[in-house]
Amino acid sequence: LDGRSPVVISNRQPYSHEYEDEEVVVNRPAGGLTAALDPVMQTVEGTWVAWGSGEADRVVADDDVVPVPPDDPSYDLRRVWLDEDQVDGYYYGYSNQALWPLSHSDTTRATYSQSDWECYRQVNELFAEAAVEESDGETPVLWFQDYHFGLAPRMARDRLDDAFIMQFWHLPWPGWDVFRACPQADELLDGLLANDMLGFHTEAYCQHFLDTVAALTDLDVDRESRSVRHGDRRTYVRPFGIGIDAASQAEAAATEEAEEFWETFTSGHGIDEDQRVAVGVDRLDYTKGLVERLEALEHFWETRPEWRGELTYVQKGAESRSRIPAYRKIQERVEAKVADVNARFGTTDWQPIVYTTEMLSEEELAGLYRGADLCLVTSLRDGMNLVSKEFAAAQLDEDGVLVLSELAGSSGELGEDALLVHPSDTPGVADAIESALTMPDDERAERMRALREQVLDADVFDWIARQFWTAERIEGARNQQE
Ligand code: G6P
Repeated sequence: LDGRSPVVISNRQPYSHEYEDEEVVVNRPAGGLTAALDPVMQTVEGTWVAWGSGEADRVVADDDVVPVPPDDPSYDLRRVWLDEDQVDGYYYGYSNQALWPLSHSDTTRATYSQSDWECYRQVNELFAEAAVEESDGETPVLWFQDYHFGLAPRMARDRLDDAFIMQFWHLPWPGWDVFRACPQADELLDGLLANDMLGFHTEAYCQHFLDTVAALTDLDVDRESRSVRHGDRRTYVRPFGIGIDAASQAEAAATEEAEEFWETFTSGHGIDEDQRVAVGVDRLDYTKGLVERLEALEHFWETRPEWRGELTYVQKGAESRSRIPAYRKIQERVEAKVADVNARFGTTDWQPIVYTTEMLSEEELAGLYRGADLCLVTSLRDGMNLVSKEFAAAQLDEDGVLVLSELAGSSGELGEDALLVHPSDTPGVADAIESALTMPDDERAERMRALREQVLDADVFDWIARQFWTAERIEGARNQQE
């Protein structure tokens, strides 16, 4: 957009400052969004507005702004401070107990507390204000990220009528008949329709959004241009499947640290070189199909005793949103199932499932992906799923197989060369594990080569380029109309 640097607004910040043994250390949070956007921001040098969630964030912030990345700053991070009640209502409450389950079509898990909703509105105001403060120039570009900001685009538009406002919704968008279960559906749609451009990962999510607007509002939905008309403005709805920084993932996988980690990790858990390893890497979230995956593995070892002692499954979990009961429950269920399966099949020299929630560096994680023979992604629903892409990027030897849920957004792009499964089809997932393990070498290499090509090609830089290119055209059309 003519070299204008965008103001990006997301809930999660790319760097948080924490205390460790009374020293201030910098952490990078788990989760796809920030990992994907940070390299982009380093290139475009804009301002990133986010919640200052780290214990030590206030200590390092000067005027609420801190230059990042800490060791080689290239852009500004503006922190928004939230008190505990705001965090409870807006983040743990409305965002993660209403919009998260709703967007994943999990209507029975979604709860809509009025006070959470009010908090969500209040915090959206705070972020809209900060975004407006950080924007300069005649037609600033604001780019909101995700479901934490269903109202903020409208609030920003009220203050900056001319701004180019765009948003990317990183979750699935459910069918209109699911979305109508939300009592605040009208206000949320109004907030989102203040965007000039609204992006989703897939064409299906775009269609679901347009269906929702058509069904629940009186607005004019133009299917051909995939836009919604309201007054003299339009919101264009477009698919942009997010990618990863695939080159840096591949680089991390090629390091000595990656290799050493793999060796120490496997030997530390008694996994011999001739044994096979499957890996799963997930935030501990009920949408990821973790218990279903463990059940499929159990079924696999139960029906194929010849693989006992021959295949080990490594589950790397990242604790997430633990103040919410549904999240605590999924953690407990995962731990219990791991213990169960290990007790059932484990022997003195073989542990079927190695479960760890240890923080890993990018290189260590890449080492795990590279060394593994297969990766299991069994989301029950998933906007995109970046693990499937990280695994492919790190597979430098092109000898691993991706087993992928057809309900993950990434199945559209990777489905041809991954082994697609239905996550709740226990015998089907077990069959796919066996197919992956017994696949001829040349087929494995061919599939992995194709996956890697796709992931390296449609990376996060391509994702942003596609959006800014489209935004430019939309802005051009808007200016012509005026
Ligand atoms: C998903 C969401 C992101 C979120 C991430 C981690 O990828 O789309 O917006 O940041 O999960 O979740 P958390 O609640 O820890 O930020």
